[in-house]
Amino acid sequence: MANICVCARFRPLNSREEGGPICITRSDSQSFSIKDEKDEQYLFSFDKVFYEDSEQADVYEFLARPIVRDAVNSINGTIITYGQTGAGKTFTMEGANILEADNHKKGLLPRVVDELFDAIKVCGEATAYNIKLSMVEIYMERVRDLFDLSKDNIQIKEHKGHGILLSGVTEVPILDGEEALKNLSSGIANRAVGETQMNAGSSRSHCIYIFTVQKEVTNEKRVSTGKLLLVDLAGSEKIEKTGAEGKVLEEAKTINKSLSALGNVISALTSIPNAKSLHIPFRDSKLTRLLQDALGGGSHTALLCCCSPSLSNSSESVSTLRFGARAKHIKASLRMSSKEDIDKKQDISDVKLKIAERILKKLREKLDAETVNMIGEEFVMDGLFCDPTASFTEEVISNHETIITSQTISSWKEASQNLVNTIIELL
Ligand SMILES: Nc1ncnc2c1ncn2[C@@H]1O[C@H](COP(=O)(O)OP(=O)(O)OP(=O)(O)O)[C@@H](O)[C@H]1O
Ligand SMILES: [Mg+2]
Repeated sequence: MANICVCARFRPLNSREEGGPICITRSDSQSFSIKDEKDEQYLFSFDKVFYEDSEQADVYEFLARPIVRDAVNSINGTIITYGQTGAGKTFTMEGANILEADNHKKGLLPRVVDELFDAIKVCGEATAYNIKLSMVEIYMERVRDLFDLSKDNIQIKEHKGHGILLSGVTEVPILDGEEALKNLSSGIANRAVGETQMNAGSSRSHCIYIFTVQKEVTNEKRVSTGKLLLVDLAGSEKIEKTGAEGKVLEEAKTINKSLSALGNVISALTSIPNAKSLHIPFRDSKLTRLLQDALGGGSHTALLCCCSPSLSNSSESVSTLRFGARAKHIKASLRMSSKEDIDKKQDISDVKLKIAERILKKLREKLDAETVNMIGEEFVMDGLFCDPTASFTEEVISNHETIITSQTISSWKEASQNLVNTIIELL
């Protein structure tokens, strides 16, 4: 179990902030203090702090490179930029421009592309790689395919072996770095961007870049896959500061709502001793559902908390940093998705399936059909029972959610206990 790598980055003051006071005092490369408008002082420590004079290359080296190298070795990875609107998330991810060649401005994405293709070049003839790229954005709670705008409501599904999947998303095979950048550039051109008082090029959606790196050891006929997700979140915003109205206001409300769902997931994952045994609200938003593997285990994850160093934005910065400090406590186990792993999981699923079917058969003799169906669905949702050939529809999932929300937690606990007792009696 590894912790999530959490870093903070302060961008330089912008033209609106220049000349005004700054709110941070550096301690070292991992710690600093920050004061808010009420002169309250807070101390924060992260895996690394990138101050205003930091270089894009420094961020890449520390935060992204280990994750990209893991992806080449079939370990899933996720890099997330989080923070207030205008704090530098997209600048960090894309650079001043995705096709930017200047090393000072070049962002994480083109560096990821360089590293992936460099790694492949040195791998020799015994290993063959296939890289595919997908790009989606979550705009107004719909997942849109940025390579095919006709796919504007992509469903998020979960597969026991492969984890979270985007059903029918376009996957573009990428042969070299130049082609990757061209595709990234066309996807970015399709992103929802708007102008607010806080950021002339404000992202109005959460953007997710997915590199699927398939590795085949040719003489062993062994295929394994590493998935690398880069997530450029839309920024949290105070409506009075951004001056949002009309469509921009609706976007802001949806953005804030999904970011607060993300905060709730982080709280649930970190505030209970054995998080896995309790309900984590991944299904409360498309964003949290998509990040389920990154946050719930199964991915090598890094979070960059982007902030303004200006005192005028310090309350938002403190809230971003608190989010990061909390995320630091999530323990994530890594997942390597080789064909053998998936086959092994399939075998375990088959055994679980048989056990669950036996239990359901016995229950059918004692209980009414509707109750038994409900219990069956509960088995599926808890991962106790997964039939990979049967696709449990969104309808089953939403019925399940209605069931969950229509019962109080205590009566639900009581029902589960009774169920466990009944199963023990029957076995
Ligand atoms: N480290 C940096 N160095 C120089 N300029 C920066 C840096 N970070 C951000 N900027 C500039 O600040 C402005 C806002 O940055 P950016 O668009 O990345 O913010 P954001 O966090 O993505 O905001 P939003 O949530 O609204 O999308 C841009 O003009 C960007 O070029
Ligand atoms: Mg942005």
